[in-house]
Amino acid sequence: MSEREFSRIRERVYRIAGISLSDAKRTLVVSRLSKIVRALGLSGFDAYIDYLEMRGRPEDDQDFVNALTTNLTRFFREDHHFEHLSSFVGTLISKPRRMGKGGRPRLRIWSAGCSTGQEPYTIALSLLAAYPELKRWDFRILATDIDSNVISRAATGIYPAGELNGLSAQRTMLFEKAGPGEIRIPQEARELVAFKLLNLIEPWPVSGPFDAIFCRNVAIYFDKPTQGMLFDRLGQVLAPDGFLYIGHSENLQAVSKGYRLVGKTIYQRKTDSDTRDAAA
Ligand SMILES: C[S@@+](CC[C@H](N)C(=O)[O-])C[C@H]1O[C@@H](n2cnc3c(N)ncnc32)[C@H](O)[C@@H]1O
Repeated sequence: MSEREFSRIRERVYRIAGISLSDAKRTLVVSRLSKIVRALGLSGFDAYIDYLEMRGRPEDDQDFVNALTTNLTRFFREDHHFEHLSSFVGTLISKPRRMGKGGRPRLRIWSAGCSTGQEPYTIALSLLAAYPELKRWDFRILATDIDSNVISRAATGIYPAGELNGLSAQRTMLFEKAGPGEIRIPQEARELVAFKLLNLIEPWPVSGPFDAIFCRNVAIYFDKPTQGMLFDRLGQVLAPDGFLYIGHSENLQAVSKGYRLVGKTIYQRKTDSDTRDAAA
C-alpha cells in the first residue's frame, strides 16, 4: 500500500468514524481491506477509495468501517466496574431516585461501543443476579456500536462456550447451554438490552438521563479533540448522580474538564460546588 493510499484511507475512516489510524496500523489495514478490494474486483486501494468516493453506497462505507474497527471485548472485562455499578444500583434499590414507565422505578444504562455484546450482557446478568426485583423496574440497557456486524452478532445472544474460560463457577452459571460448544444469554437478560447501530461522532437519537454509561476502550481509537468532544457530550446525557466507566488505558481528565474521578477509571459529572472549589 502506497503512502498516498494509506493516507486516503486514514482520512476517510477519520471523517466517517473519528478513528485515527497510526502508521503502525498499515499492515493491519492492508490485510483487513484486501478482501473487500478483491470482492469488488478493483485493481487496488486507490481504485477502492475512488470507488467509495464516486460510486460507493452507504453499505460500501459500512463495510469499509466494519473492516477497520477493533472489537476486542469479553465478559466481566474490568471486573471492578461491575462491582461498583452493583453497589451503586443497590443504593437505588433501597431509595429509587427516578420514576419511569407505569410509575415504576427507572434505571437506564448505556453501553456505548458495545462490540459483540459481552459488556451490556455482563451488566444485565450481574444486576439481575444481585437484584431480582429489577425485573419489575423500568430497566433498559442501550447497547450501541458503529459496526453493523458486531451489532448483529450481539443481538443473537449466542457465543462460543470458550468465552466463559476463566470465569468463576458462580459466573458461569449465569449463562445457559445452547448448541454443542455454545452458550446463550438467558432471555430475561436479553430482553433488557436494545442493540442499535450508532456512530458516536454523529448526533445521537438517545434520551437520557443515564444512571451509568460504559464507554470503555472506544476513545483510545480517537484523537484528543474527538475524545474531549465525546466525553463532554456523554456528560450531557449522564444523570448528575450517575457514573461514567472508561477503559483502563484512557485518560478522561486530559481531554475534558467536566468530570471528577471517583474510583479507578470511574467518573461523575462535576457539580457546581466542585467548580466553585476549583476556582477558589
Ligand atoms: C475494543 S471495542 C470495546 C468493547 C467494549 N466496550 C469493551 O471495553 O470490552 C471498541 C468498539 O468501539 C466501536 N467504535 C469505534 N468507533 C466508533 C464510533 N465512532 N462510534 C461507535 N462505536 C465505535 C468499535 O466498532 C468497537 O466495537
